[in-house]
Amino acid sequence: MAKGDALPTESYKGVRDFYPEDQFFQRYLFEHMERVCELFGYEEYTASVLEPAELYRSKTSEEIVNEQTYSFLDRGGREVTLRPEMTPTLARMIAARQRELPLPVRWYSIPNVFRYERPQRGRLREHWQLNVDLVGAEGIEADAEVIAVAHGIMRSLGAEERDFEIHVSDRRILESIYRSVGIAKEYAADVTRLLDRRAKIDDFEKRLTDLIAHEEKAVKLVEELERLTSTKYLEDLRSALESMGVGNMVVDTSVTRGFDYYTGMVFEVYDTDPRNRRSLFGGGRYDNLLSLFGGASIPAVGFGMGDVTARDFLEAHNLLPRYAPATELMICIVEQEATAHATHLAQSLRRDDVTVAVNFSDKRIGDQIRQADAMGIPFIIAVGSKERESGRYTIKNLETGHERTLPVDQIADHVFSSLG
Ligand code: HAM
Repeated sequence: MAKGDALPTESYKGVRDFYPEDQFFQRYLFEHMERVCELFGYEEYTASVLEPAELYRSKTSEEIVNEQTYSFLDRGGREVTLRPEMTPTLARMIAARQRELPLPVRWYSIPNVFRYERPQRGRLREHWQLNVDLVGAEGIEADAEVIAVAHGIMRSLGAEERDFEIHVSDRRILESIYRSVGIAKEYAADVTRLLDRRAKIDDFEKRLTDLIAHEEKAVKLVEELERLTSTKYLEDLRSALESMGVGNMVVDTSVTRGFDYYTGMVFEVYDTDPRNRRSLFGGGRYDNLLSLFGGASIPAVGFGMGDVTARDFLEAHNLLPRYAPATELMICIVEQEATAHATHLAQSLRRDDVTVAVNFSDKRIGDQIRQADAMGIPFIIAVGSKERESGRYTIKNLETGHERTLPVDQIADHVFSSLG
């Protein structure tokens, strides 16, 4: 290929490449998410990233997401969408088996989801999103439980309660205000979506007036929202959470969430650091979504937590784990004739469960050791004629400089006891 035609190395706009350090973090994050979900009795599920486009047209999602979907025609002329969120898929899967599933079910998943958004800090065109959903339970204890899972994940990642706040509101509050102000049903979803973006738009009141075509009602709506501080339900939720050890819930009636399907409790988790005022993640109760699939109406509550905002949060709070590769040992080759012996030794150690890479660089031994060190590999063994003849190997800990000369069958124990 001529030089001018070289392929660009950049990834597609708004998506990420995961180099080993990134993947290391990703795994760390997912393992914490999975562990906390399982501590609460949640089971993992997943599905294909491809969904029939109609799943998102059938009122399961908001318009914003419809405008943000990656959709295309497959070779058979069917309209396909890369899922922009997991909730419609979850609803579809549960509705399909509603007779067999012993409700309530607790399910979690960490899917990759795609939205055609304007890339910016915390917003990309692709992200991974933990979804935690409790389906088939309508009580306040179910709402409290999913919030406790969210809290548990934040705590397990090292966050203190003072580092984040769980802002909770209730869609039923909005509905009762709409009723008292006299906002017609057909505008309700649009008004809720506008409220969801309120903090991000300057001319909110003008847009609201334009939307409902009634200035008096717009003013009254804003007044009513500001007057409202809490409700009995939200106070009960707070006590339920406190008894579970969750002490950082705040009532915040400005929380609405964008999706149309929420019907009750809604929440957003915020960083308390004023430099990072955006929501980290959120969710809520959606009691009517499953009935769209023709079966019974099944109550549900859950949340979605994205990896992008989680990483930004952990970085800002100095909570990122330090990268270390999974490789425990590098075998360095002193002279070419030792190569077969080195690969054989590596195989024996792998059978003993040691993670081993053999250095094929042909570089000087000092350079090979420096490479192992730069990669963060804790141990090295150099194999040359002496080792081939004696069958004993000097294993060096690169961090402490400590060395031991051992036969092959004692190396694994040495590695494990040193690494703890
Ligand atoms: P959502 O608020 O649209 O809700 O997304 C949930 C979380 O995913 C966000 O709070 C954020 O952490 C992350 N997220 C969303 N969009 C992006 C993006 N473009 N770039 C990076 N991160 C993003 C839902 O999707 C609901 N389906 C969640 C849910 C589950 N509700 C009930 N169950």
